[in-house]
Amino acid sequence: MKTFLLAYFAAVAGLYMVLFQEPELKESMERGRDIYADFCVSCHLEKGEGVLNTFPPLANSDFLMNNREQSIRGIKYGQQGVMEVNGVKYNNVMTALGLEDEEVADVMNFILNSWGNTSDTMVTVEEVAGVQKK
Ligand code: HEC
Repeated sequence: MKTFLLAYFAAVAGLYMVLFQEPELKESMERGRDIYADFCVSCHLEKGEGVLNTFPPLANSDFLMNNREQSIRGIKYGQQGVMEVNGVKYNNVMTALGLEDEEVADVMNFILNSWGNTSDTMVTVEEVAGVQKK
């Protein structure tokens, strides 16, 4: 009975994710794609590959996938100084891009789920709002 109940809840939770989280993520990613094309592609390039030693990659970036909060902070407030991405040191400047919290969430959802990147949890406006300048 217990296993049955657990399986039942898992199925309901899964269905809920498919019905609600999935379209929400897709819509956010679609808005994020446009934001990426307007604000990010000039440096991080079409496939998120970046420019070695100058603009770090977003595709397969260990920094992005492991430092979600700091990535949000960088997009929100700007980022400069030494950072290591996939074993390569960058010491450059990304100026603040002037995006709204919702736009930061959308572009994060796009980059976290594109070019082979995958993220389990969606970035929400609340999460972005909670990230303070250091
Ligand atoms: C003017 C060029 C430029 C633009 C435009 C730009 N970035 Fe960056 N970005 C950089 C640089 C340079 C760094 C590394 C900064 C450092 O060396 O500290 C960086 C770092 C990052 C990082 C963390 C490092 C990594 O590669 O994982 C993320 C995430 C990121 N940018 C996302 C974005 C997003 C999303 C946008 C658009 C909303 C954007 N950037 C627009 C130049 C840019």
